[in-house]
Amino acid sequence: ADPVLSSREGEGILILTLNRPDARNALSTALLERLADLLGAADADPEIRAVILTGGLKVFAAGADVKEMAAHDAVSILADARPRLWKAIREFGKPLIGAVNGFCLGGGNELAMCCDILIAGEDAQFGQPEINLGIIPGAGGTQRLPRTIGRSRAMEMALAGSFLSAREALTFGLVSRVVPPELTIAKAVELARVIAAKPPLAVRAAKQAVRAAEELPLSEGLRLERALFCQLFATADRREGLAAFAEKRPAKFEGK
Ligand code: CAA
Repeated sequence: ADPVLSSREGEGILILTLNRPDARNALSTALLERLADLLGAADADPEIRAVILTGGLKVFAAGADVKEMAAHDAVSILADARPRLWKAIREFGKPLIGAVNGFCLGGGNELAMCCDILIAGEDAQFGQPEINLGIIPGAGGTQRLPRTIGRSRAMEMALAGSFLSAREALTFGLVSRVVPPELTIAKAVELARVIAAKPPLAVRAAKQAVRAAEELPLSEGLRLERALFCQLFATADRREGLAAFAEKRPAKFEGK
């Protein structure tokens, strides 16, 4: 079976669904490879304006595939293809909205943190249980969690393997909304529709700028923001946006 299902949801929106139900959507290398390919294609497709990533109604993902991982030794893990795949996933340039139900653990939580916006079902549980396996998070968990929810809570997750409930994840800023589980995808689609109607070059620049806030010192982040801001003055969509405002009509953006 295809480890990631892909479906179009109306104008400009793609839904990617992790599809390894018998393994709680564990992120096998084949799954990550497929996901990286699908995101790469979506990035290059001008018709796609936003992507939703979900594991469906029951589980987001229970982490790296523990059975696959067991076959590695200290040498083979160094040559693993996975870091390259994670990098490709993280570099997706269009809005990526995660719709998370059930367990979101280990690599699953790291994948969720690759999303730009997270919508959680009330039953979602977030965790980095790698410590229980004698390892630590290996795809960004120890770096992105403290930047997102703060050091003490990140330490609890990484050292004690504590889970966060959806409500806690909301309070701590890991997710932006909590909805009944059956509504996560609908809520993500609603948000994706709003974003899909915005000028795509500006959306891409906005994502790049906000993302850079996680990496850059403030002065460099501000410089990047200003450079992206000025670049957008070269776009037809900027002229259209300002003209439509002046003429009191809805803008028609074309991604140019
Ligand atoms: N990898 C491979 N298979 C997994 C899996 C995983 N991460 N998680 C669950 N499965 C499989 C189980 O082996 C089981 O398969 P069988 O039916 O063949 O036995 C099936 O999925 C169902 O699992 P459970 O019976 O355990 O389901 P549950 O609902 O009782 O519990 C769970 C769900 C709490 C997620 C539990 O499965 C679990 O703790 N999974 C492992 C979570 C984990 O440790 N994740 C971290 C992985 S390490 C990592 O991610 C490293 C990294 O980032 C780099």
